[in-house]
Amino acid sequence: MNIVDIIRKKRDGERLSAEEIRFLVKGIVRGEVEDSQAGAFLMAVYFSGLSAEETSALTMEMAESGDMLDLSAIPGTVDKHSTGGVGDKTTLVVAPLAAAAGVPVAKLSGRALGHTSGTIDRLESIPGLRTDLSTEEFIAQVKSIGVAVSGQTARLVPADKKIYALRDKTATVEVIPLIAASVMSKKLAGGAQSILLDVKCGRGAFVPELERAKQLAETMVKIGKSAGRKTRALVTAMDQPLGRAVGEGLEMGEAVETLRGGGPADFLELCLLVASHMVYLGGKSHSPESARITLERLLGSGAALEKLRQMVSAQGGDVKTLERPEELGRTRHQAEVRAPKSGYVQRIDARAIGDTARSLVNNHTGGILLERKAGDEVISGGTLAVLLSDDSGKLEEASVKVEEALTIGEEPPKPTPLLLCPPIG
Ligand code: URA
Repeated sequence: MNIVDIIRKKRDGERLSAEEIRFLVKGIVRGEVEDSQAGAFLMAVYFSGLSAEETSALTMEMAESGDMLDLSAIPGTVDKHSTGGVGDKTTLVVAPLAAAAGVPVAKLSGRALGHTSGTIDRLESIPGLRTDLSTEEFIAQVKSIGVAVSGQTARLVPADKKIYALRDKTATVEVIPLIAASVMSKKLAGGAQSILLDVKCGRGAFVPELERAKQLAETMVKIGKSAGRKTRALVTAMDQPLGRAVGEGLEMGEAVETLRGGGPADFLELCLLVASHMVYLGGKSHSPESARITLERLLGSGAALEKLRQMVSAQGGDVKTLERPEELGRTRHQAEVRAPKSGYVQRIDARAIGDTARSLVNNHTGGILLERKAGDEVISGGTLAVLLSDDSGKLEEASVKVEEALTIGEEPPKPTPLLLCPPIG
């Protein structure tokens, strides 16, 4: 078997056998397949696709490329994963929230990909907080306080680490089988018994079209179920950024605000939706609807915030930052983007906001705070967004991009639903 033949086969639209996929994944992990060859393979998949069998084989090979966590000593563990969106800091709220409802949450998270930032980067904006827990530490923490959110250890799914980074560099992020294999290999290796997937759909997602988002959700649910895990997917809207904060530390701050009883309405709604399905999957309620009532109470009582405090403390973070979330991610310089005319915000191009925020972020600080969201009324000269950066030279160009990303019209836009189709799985 040789790698050039495998690339050629995929380039020409042929199907690969499980053995060929194993040879490829092992070669990538061992460094025997050069980056240029792996990149060429990924591009061939972009054009030729992968069948359901090839996707399953790729997922299992990737999952088994490193350690597989054994969480069997902790009954009812739940994991969640978002396919990634702009301002998507949901994990930082739902992990402690679901844990406060008695569901053990064992969550391994990733870093920035494409135009989105990663949960691990957001968490690291809290001084001292460790995201490199060993497998033993991770399991012990879930056992003792019921929640841990950490980066994948070097020994977990090394194949995804390599492929994820290569996809980011070769414009092959937006490929359904590659997203499915990336997400599900981590979820299977992460060991949780139940998996809740938040599949993002819209302009700010890796999969903008509803039909393709549903296809991604179905692919992942099938992989999860065939591996014996309770798996459910929600397809949710990602046309405009989620909440108001876009940028690692700013998003961490917004998540803490939300657990303190504030936070933007759209973000809170998504958190309650995702957490209620996690609690249901974890067997702690007989329906997502009844779980939601419990979760609202846990938010109101401060129990969910207390769970985050326990998690931050267990991972070595400075818990005092949780009392001043508005200080997280702040920078020396800022600029305001003002409305060029009066009217209603029709649309916010999430991808443009995500890209611009990433250009402003440095060392977990900086980004964009949206003062107006789609549907909001604006008056000419009113503030649309605040841009933050330690490099004042970046603010001018970013301001132009943010102004272009917001469309203002005379009528309010039709509201779009959050959940785009019934839960899958
Ligand atoms: N999230 C992942 O973990 N992988 C992807 O490919 C996309 C989103």
